[in-house]
Amino acid sequence: MGWPGVIEAYRDFLPVSSRTPVITLLEGNTPLVPSTRLGPHLGLRLFFKVEGANPTGSFKDRGMTVAVSRALERGARGVLCASTGNTAASAAAYAARARLPCLVLLPAEGVAVGKLAQVAAHGARLVLVQAGFDAAMAAVRALAAELAVAVVNSLNPDRLAGQQTAAFELCEALEGAPDVVVLPVGNAGNITAYWQGFRAFQAAGRIATLPRMVGVQAEGAAPLVRGEAVPQPETVASAIRIGHPVSWDGARRAVAESGGQVLAVSDGAILQAQRALAEEEGLLVEPASAAAYAGVERLAVSGLARGSLVVCVLTGHGLKDPDVLRRGVALPEPVAPDLDTLRQVLTRHLA
Ligand code: F0G
Repeated sequence: MGWPGVIEAYRDFLPVSSRTPVITLLEGNTPLVPSTRLGPHLGLRLFFKVEGANPTGSFKDRGMTVAVSRALERGARGVLCASTGNTAASAAAYAARARLPCLVLLPAEGVAVGKLAQVAAHGARLVLVQAGFDAAMAAVRALAAELAVAVVNSLNPDRLAGQQTAAFELCEALEGAPDVVVLPVGNAGNITAYWQGFRAFQAAGRIATLPRMVGVQAEGAAPLVRGEAVPQPETVASAIRIGHPVSWDGARRAVAESGGQVLAVSDGAILQAQRALAEEEGLLVEPASAAAYAGVERLAVSGLARGSLVVCVLTGHGLKDPDVLRRGVALPEPVAPDLDTLRQVLTRHLA
């Protein structure tokens, strides 16, 4: 039969019953790719959890299958979210499948074009707000009850429950928990969900030890590192351009209880990490995901034990944000299609 999607795979750990209509795109079961160059170079046993391989190209699908299924079960009039793009793309796809109206509030500036295209393609109602993510999120929280819609942001416990499944998959693939999990932090739902997942698997006797949780923020959008909200967050990693995360407490607990940390990396380090993953490992990820690898590099130089088993969570696909990829690329002059010219050009490239 093949992989059934995260609800059927982990039903016992999720808030669903036999009455829940399961809306799924067979998300989850994403590759855990061993690093062949970057990890060995850093002296780490490094694996990449490739969440861009989910149906809409990001990890959001794990939570969205649960949140949309439950919204349908409860008879919601529709689903609503604020988003930097990926949550909206995922909500739009799952709502389309459930035939529920989907309303999304996005910042008018800076959302990656691939995500906008996804939202439009799935027929979601797009509202562009003249503000950043944090203001859009506040509006969603204020209006959800009177509109009788289900909020499918990660403050919805169904989303977090679904996102735990990535932690379950890691433990099963590695036959235990890794030493360290490194992931990018924006609204802080995912780090909260991973920690919840590891704790649940431990309580069920499925793993003996717990990993250290390391969250990575961009320097210009690092409220958890600074210990205070950032009014005008700015970073090339638009997915995590968030100054006032909703799941702040969950992130703080995950880091404190696991003996982990939150660190900030520069936009330069993020873009360099994105290039390294693409050129050295064959993994194309969006900037927010590359931030996690920039964090791994930082940990390696700041004294992470050699040989540590580290999982770097690559949260979203690189094609989500083609503008960032195009920035550094100068296309070559077109050449004539005759064999002499092409032989000459190709031979030069092989040299
Ligand atoms: N990576 C990507 C690609 C994301 O899209 C996000 C969040 C994160 C990391 C951070 O995860 O918010 O749980 O801490 N994107 C949200 C969105 C905010 O609206 O798509 P988080």
